[in-house]
Amino acid sequence: MDAADFSALAAARHSVRSFLPDPIPQDVLVKILVDATSAPSWSNTRAFKLALAAGDRAERLRAAYGVAFDRTLTGDGAGVDGDFDVQARYPDAQRAHQIAIGKALYKHLGIERQDREARSAHARRNAEAFGAPVIGLVFVQEGMLPFSAMDAGLMLQTLFLSAKANGVDSCPIGNLAVWRSPADQEFEVPQDYKLITGFALGYASDERINDFRAERRPIEMLTPK
Ligand SMILES: Cc1cc2nc3c(=O)[nH]c(=O)nc-3n(C[C@H](O)[C@H](O)[C@H](O)COP(=O)(O)O)c2cc1C
Repeated sequence: MDAADFSALAAARHSVRSFLPDPIPQDVLVKILVDATSAPSWSNTRAFKLALAAGDRAERLRAAYGVAFDRTLTGDGAGVDGDFDVQARYPDAQRAHQIAIGKALYKHLGIERQDREARSAHARRNAEAFGAPVIGLVFVQEGMLPFSAMDAGLMLQTLFLSAKANGVDSCPIGNLAVWRSPADQEFEVPQDYKLITGFALGYASDERINDFRAERRPIEMLTPK
């Protein structure tokens, strides 16, 4: 692989938000997980754990997230039990980007700002991991934060790039970290490991949502003194 191949692979990965139900073959999943082990890690601690759900387990999780999502519609934070405050207000500069990406996605989907029903339907699909056949959950060791979160991110991007190279699409889904109990129903999670994000793996459908592309801004560089 030359540099151009890598650039093409990195550019080709994007967040997919509608998946076919087709399962990912086990040998492909194993290849992706092996590639993910090549990510660097703080003192080689790799203070994170991964949960992967496919088949019936993924469907049970999806159903549990759907129920959890519906409870949040009351607006009083009912049922929200995540380890981190995923829904906290961002600092202004980041909030501007958060709003911009949301607006751009809804515009792409033709959803009006006032159309609460359509927005809610999209948010529910988000909570249901966009129908992906494989749902991943990432847990970080609390005592190793912030380094464990950084390591988990490095691992995740390596995993996503390997997935893309193997023809598998992905979407990180921080929204799944709004709820902790669905994960506990399906996996033995050690007490000191906290759910930081979920993600989806599978094969993109040809739905219009998958033509959406986020703006790729240049890396913000500090001005030298
Ligand atoms: C940790 C993390 C959590 C994310 N959670 C969500 C999510 O819940 N829903 C969603 O649609 N996109 C989610 N995204 C995807 C981002 O919106 C996306 O990565 C960004 O807009 C850049 O687009 P790209 O991934 O297509 O390049 C998440 C991304 C990251 C890194």
